Amino acid sequence: MKKVILDVDTGIDDAMAIAYAARSKDIDLVGITTCFGNTSLDEATRNTLQLLELLGREDIPVSPGAATPLFRPPLKQKATFVHGEDAMGNHSLPLPKMEPSGKHAAEYMVEMILKHPEEITLVCVGSMTNLALAVMREPSIVEKVERVVIMGGAATVSGNVTPAAEANIYTDPEAAEYVFRSGLPITMVGLDVTMQTLLPREQLAVWKAKQTPLGDFMAHIVGFYMDSYLRFYPGIGGCALHDPLAIGAVINPRFIKTVPMHIQVDCEGIHSVGRTIPDLRSIPANPPNVDVALEVDEEGFLEHFLSVVV
Ligand code: BDR
Ligand code: CA
Repeated sequence: MKKVILDVDTGIDDAMAIAYAARSKDIDLVGITTCFGNTSLDEATRNTLQLLELLGREDIPVSPGAATPLFRPPLKQKATFVHGEDAMGNHSLPLPKMEPSGKHAAEYMVEMILKHPEEITLVCVGSMTNLALAVMREPSIVEKVERVVIMGGAATVSGNVTPAAEANIYTDPEAAEYVFRSGLPITMVGLDVTMQTLLPREQLAVWKAKQTPLGDFMAHIVGFYMDSYLRFYPGIGGCALHDPLAIGAVINPRFIKTVPMHIQVDCEGIHSVGRTIPDLRSIPANPPNVDVALEVDEEGFLEHFLSVVV
């Protein structure tokens, strides 16, 4: 079992990633940390607690972290058009009874990595603000973390939130650039592969037919997500499994194929803020700093995901 800390901005596909990790027999989900992004920090935290209660995983501590980017002003708007008013598809789960832990996300990451050297895999499926803060707080975690798997960026395809940038990197480009330069062992699961792992709409009926609270909930929130996908990708017939694929890559690294690359984040471009720029020249100027996923076994991953998530 791999010890995982999952950093989220919950979010519908974050919710799928949480359920996948919390229900997987291959993952020991030691804690969840939350961040602003798809919505505010408080809503991301509330959504996470509600979901853990639905999953019966009240044993997993939730540590809230950053409410704003490292240096930029707070985000002006939430991604309501993709994730709903509450960032979880306008569902109706009861308010959580669980309380968040009293620890800041960065403090929690540092404490756990020092306590379990070379055992913790950090999976970041929102901006990298909490992780950047953790490295600033305790630089030695760079050597002590087992691996960092991020959902974010796009090395060989265009962005989603802008033509140049993927949403998680765009949300806090300076945090992402700091993390990429830190020396952490990073696997980047970006749009290059997540846009290839599509969940078909037919799955909603399968989940509903289970007649369980979790099946109903997933069908509801993922249905909302799929409707929003149709507005951006007409005729797509489903939705991308961005955040769940990062969990899949931890459970079975063979689901993806990676190439080591040097990646820089554009923090200042006029039209390209948040772009992840790979050095694809035959002789790159700098050594690789990220293992970038460029291929995915979408069938193998999807089959496994569906066998676990609900
Ligand atoms: C990423 O952006 C967020 O909206 C999703 O939760 C995912 O982490 C996809 O670009
Ligand atoms: Ca996310």
